[in-house]
Amino acid sequence: MKVTIVGAGNVGATAADVIASRSIASDVTLLDIKEGFAEGKALDIMQTATTRGFNTRVVGSTSDYSKTSNSDVVVITSGIPRKPGMTREELIGINAKIVKDVTKSILEYSNNPIFIVVSNPMDSMTYLTLNSSGLDKKRVIGMGGALDSSRFKTYISLALNKPANDIHAMVIGGHGDTTMIPLSRFAKYNGLSLSNFLSESKIDEVVKSTMVGGATLTKLLGTSAWYAPGSSIAYVVDSVLNNHNRIIPCSVYLDGEYGFSDICIGVPCVIGKNGVEKIISLDLNDKEKSIFSKSVDVVNSMNQSLLNHL
Ligand code: LAC
Repeated sequence: MKVTIVGAGNVGATAADVIASRSIASDVTLLDIKEGFAEGKALDIMQTATTRGFNTRVVGSTSDYSKTSNSDVVVITSGIPRKPGMTREELIGINAKIVKDVTKSILEYSNNPIFIVVSNPMDSMTYLTLNSSGLDKKRVIGMGGALDSSRFKTYISLALNKPANDIHAMVIGGHGDTTMIPLSRFAKYNGLSLSNFLSESKIDEVVKSTMVGGATLTKLLGTSAWYAPGSSIAYVVDSVLNNHNRIIPCSVYLDGEYGFSDICIGVPCVIGKNGVEKIISLDLNDKEKSIFSKSVDVVNSMNQSLLNHL
């Protein structure tokens, strides 16, 4: 099984590292426009194979797309990351063109890959990848919800002082500071609702921290985060390549689900060997529906502005 990761920056390289170290794929190809950079990252990761005990072959290349031929999964992390104070939405102008070009180049060497889109603004970049690739809607997946959900679970675990792996929670909606929707009503600690353990105001605080989870890190690090984004990519890739059929919130094309069409936005999906095997319909209450609808409006207006940037 072969995975290509376009963009060997912090996020792409971390994804390659996690995929290799956990033996999720047999082959990983890293691509980057910066001369020598992807080769360097790939070699560095390969040199950990014996001390970490994996056999994944990691290859790097400076934009030679022939090296990506016959990829099963292609991860797009290309483009610029946000700096402190920037929103993900502000990146649309630069990243749209890059993501469109990457999609085209990939399809010259891989017939029917599954794309996992990470570049920001992620929901619009997923929509763009879907439309410019002409692939089946099941084969284009935006990664944001996986990341936002892992952040939500982390903040819940910190508030409860309980292990993160005993917590189930998801974030739907757009992958933006104001558009994501941490679904606290559906969050559970070992099957029990959060309201058994946390006050309403504490739950609110957890939700707010989750929504600015990425921005908090951007402020601390001076650039966009990479460990959690890279691991979240590997988590989605693993569910595809190993056909785990995990339920993961991802940005996918809606065709009537949740009452909306012609948009890619975060909803819980079953992710397996064909990509999006199923979209799960949640029984949202009126308040949640109204927040989701506002999130749809923001993502839609971003999608409108895509055309001006291509
Ligand atoms: C973040 C970027 C990857 O949320 O969108 O950290």
